[in-house]
Amino acid sequence: MTGVTVRVPAKLNLQLAVGPPRADGYHDLVTVFHAVSLFDEITARPAERDGVSVSGEGAARVPEDGDNLALRAVAALRAATGADAGGVHITIAKRIPVAAGLAGGSADAAAALVACNELWGTGLGQPQLLEIAAQVGSDVAFAVLGGTAVGRGRGERLTPALAPATSYHWVLAFADGQLSTPAVYAALDQLRAAEAGGPAAEAGGPAAESGGPAVTHGAAAEHGSAEPVLDAALMSALRSGDARQLGRALSNDLQPAALSLFPALRKTLAAGLELGALGALVSGSGPTCLFLAASADRALDLAASLSGAGVCRSVARATGPVPGAAVVPAVR
Ligand code: C5P
Repeated sequence: MTGVTVRVPAKLNLQLAVGPPRADGYHDLVTVFHAVSLFDEITARPAERDGVSVSGEGAARVPEDGDNLALRAVAALRAATGADAGGVHITIAKRIPVAAGLAGGSADAAAALVACNELWGTGLGQPQLLEIAAQVGSDVAFAVLGGTAVGRGRGERLTPALAPATSYHWVLAFADGQLSTPAVYAALDQLRAAEAGGPAAEAGGPAAESGGPAVTHGAAAEHGSAEPVLDAALMSALRSGDARQLGRALSNDLQPAALSLFPALRKTLAAGLELGALGALVSGSGPTCLFLAASADRALDLAASLSGAGVCRSVARATGPVPGAAVVPAVR
C-alpha cells in the first residue's frame, strides 16, 4: 500500500456550556458538536521516520515537528496497538483555518488516527479509535465520530444526537487574526470572577465556590448553577429539524470572553444578523463567527453580503451535519 488519504470535517459548537476550572486546568463542558462540510485532507505514507508537511490555509502556523497534533495521534496509536510498521509521513492539505475555533488541529489528529489504522492494518473499530482520540485532545474524538453529538467532560465523552436527516446551511466568517483557546478559557474565568465580585479566578477559586449564578450566558446561567447543563431548547430544535428554532437556540459561554479579546467580532455578528441570519455565534473559542441561513440560496446571499461588508477576512459556506474522518477511496 502506498498511502491512505482521509477527509475530515471542521466542527461547530451549537451549544458550548462551560463549568468552573478543574484542578487539572481544564473545564467541564456540555457541548453540542456539529460537523460541517469544510474538510482537511491528510495522507499517511510509509516512511523511514515520522514526519509531517502542511500546505494550504494557514499552513505556516502549523508546527511540522513532534508538537503537531497529527504526529501525537500517530504516536498514541502506535503505543496503544504496539504496531511496528516503521515510520509514517503525514501530508496535511488544510482548508480548515488554524486557531479559528473550528478544531482544525484536532481534525488532523483524528484523520491521522484513521489513516494509520488503515495503513498499518491495525483494524481498530470506532470505539477503540474514540478512546485513543480522547487521549490526544479534547475535540479529537468528535472529529472521528462526526454528525451531531453531545460532548461532556472535556468534550471527549460523546453521545450521538438523535435527529432527523435535516441538512443545515451555515456561513462561516473567518477573522483576520487568531485566538488562543487557553487564553479564551482564562478570560472567561476572569470575567466570571469579576462578576462574582472576587479577584481573578484560580482553579477551584471564588467562581467555583460561590455556588451562585456566576455565569451570564447559556443554559448554566438559566439553571442558576455553575455546572454546565444541556440546553433543552436546542435539543428540541434539533429534533424538530426547524432551522429557525435552531438559530434562536445557539449559545456559547466562551463568546463574551472571545469578544473581550477580539472586540471586532461584535461587528461581524451584528452584520450577519442584520443581513438576515437565523442565528449568529462565535464558533468555539473563536475568532470564526458562524451564521445559520434558512436555505442554500439564503446562505449564498448572506456569504456574498458579508464578504462585501468588510467585517471579516473571508467567508465560506458549509452544510452540516456530515460524517467524521473517513478514508477516501483510492482512484485506480
Ligand atoms: O485539549 P486541547 O489541547 O484541545 O485543549 C486546549 C486548551 O483549551 C487546554 O489546554 C485548556 O487550556 C483549554 N480547555 C479547557 N477545557 C476544555 C477544553 C480545553 O480549559 N474542556
